[in-house]
Amino acid sequence: MSEKIKETSNFLLKDLSEKPEIGIILGTGLGELGREIHVKKEIKYSNIPNFPTSTVKGHEGKLLFGTLNDRNVVAMQGRFHYYEGYSMKQLTFPIRVMHFLGVKTLVLSNAAGGLNEDFEIGDIMFITDHINLMPDNPLIGINDDNLGPRFLDMSEVYNENIIRDAKKIARHNQIRFQTGVYAAVTGPTFETPAEYKYIRTIGADSVGMSTIPEAIAARHMDMNVFAISLITDLGVEGKIVEVSHEEVLEAAKAAEPYARKIIKELVPKL
Ligand code: HPA
Repeated sequence: MSEKIKETSNFLLKDLSEKPEIGIILGTGLGELGREIHVKKEIKYSNIPNFPTSTVKGHEGKLLFGTLNDRNVVAMQGRFHYYEGYSMKQLTFPIRVMHFLGVKTLVLSNAAGGLNEDFEIGDIMFITDHINLMPDNPLIGINDDNLGPRFLDMSEVYNENIIRDAKKIARHNQIRFQTGVYAAVTGPTFETPAEYKYIRTIGADSVGMSTIPEAIAARHMDMNVFAISLITDLGVEGKIVEVSHEEVLEAAKAAEPYARKIIKELVPKL
């Protein structure tokens, strides 16, 4: 695996004048942030050796290199999901590559169902911790000691200093925010009312189908991690209604300007 990671990162570094220090994964609804990046180079996933290709509507598959608020970034416009059939190793491959490109901090975003009774559709939630309900883990298999440890400490996956800065930025801009625990399921089914209740009962505030594999791979290589959920529907008893992918995209659009503003102001502090 390590050889492939190096092959891909060398390919990408070939004509890059400056290495990115920050990696951003533009999850569902956060594509607009890509427009704020002063793009110096963009490349389709299908043109990157060893890269998986994205299959989901609303997820363009492009890697963007450029500056955001004067910091060198690499952004994934479109991410890979477990429900698409990728292995954990495949869907965290881009994170491995980012490490070899020089990325020290990873910013993740996702659309998620809200489980906390105080949450409303359109809220943004800074992820403070997670529960992995996917029956898999990207670190299963032979460990590459050059990448990170066999047994990974998970006591602080989501960097507390970054969360503190994000809260300050939100308050300063009078942006309503929540903090909480994100649970990841495989999808592609949304949850039944009983499943929402179960996931809320075990301590999660939001639930989605991504982010945790990437966060684990990033921590494995000692990157700092920051993640935001856009709350697109509610899994709270009495508030559960039918939900479709289109509605999720629509609700994410409403929350997006706030998440975008916060990430943009956060980047110079990372
Ligand atoms: N459940 C799982 N994934 C999601 C949801 C949800 O309610 N909303 C957006 N992504």
